Amino acid sequence: MMHLVLADSELELVPKKIIKHPAVVKGKSKILDASLHHTAMKILKDWRRRGRPDIVHFFLLLANDSILNKEGWLRVYVHTRNNEVIYVKPETRIIKNYNRFKGLMEQLFEYKRVPLEGEPLMEMKKESLEELLSKLNGKRILFCMEGKKTKLEEVLEEEVVCIIGGFPSGDFLSPVYEFANEKISLYDEMLPAWIVEMEAIVAYEKKFLW
Ligand SMILES: C[S@@+](CC[C@H](N)C(=O)[O-])C[C@H]1O[C@@H](n2cnc3c(N)ncnc32)[C@H](O)[C@@H]1O
Repeated sequence: MMHLVLADSELELVPKKIIKHPAVVKGKSKILDASLHHTAMKILKDWRRRGRPDIVHFFLLLANDSILNKEGWLRVYVHTRNNEVIYVKPETRIIKNYNRFKGLMEQLFEYKRVPLEGEPLMEMKKESLEELLSKLNGKRILFCMEGKKTKLEEVLEEEVVCIIGGFPSGDFLSPVYEFANEKISLYDEMLPAWIVEMEAIVAYEKKFLW
């Protein structure tokens, strides 16, 4: 099984501090989104990296539509900057439309589960990265620029936890370097989280599926 963790992702509700700003009122989204709230965000700490639900959207689309997931070998988790964790069931079909996806995230923040009736497909729990990782079995591979340049096929194990940062710039907020068994760099330049995710999924498929 591959456990894929998007760590310290920049997914959050619009902070109270800027909720009345005209850019926020006009944008209507309750999820902080840098593409809509850019002018309002500048008074927030770390504003340059915050408000990136698009990274979470890409990440989940790619994971849940992958062959690895269809074959039942993948589990996906989204950890946020405020220490919430979204547990995503493998059978979840991620909404393709970005605005509707953000609507779904709003519901998750409000009700902690979607859909509201029947078996939940996604659930949100108040949990740190450390708490999440303590529940998952397998070698922990952290993807980061400072890691060792290694061929992924060589380090992947059948039970593995792959940790990828869900933020556009800066460093991890959680003390993730302490939790990792191995730190891996894939390339000399920085890559978007979903490209790192794609490389990990395909390498795992090649090594254990085919
Ligand atoms: C856009 S990057 C975040 C930028 C941040 N400055 C950094 O280097 O971690 C998103 C995530 O993708 C992974 N990543 C990006 N480029 C990588 C690379 N060349 N090798 C390994 N992982 C990479 C890391 O997990 C990173 O946190």
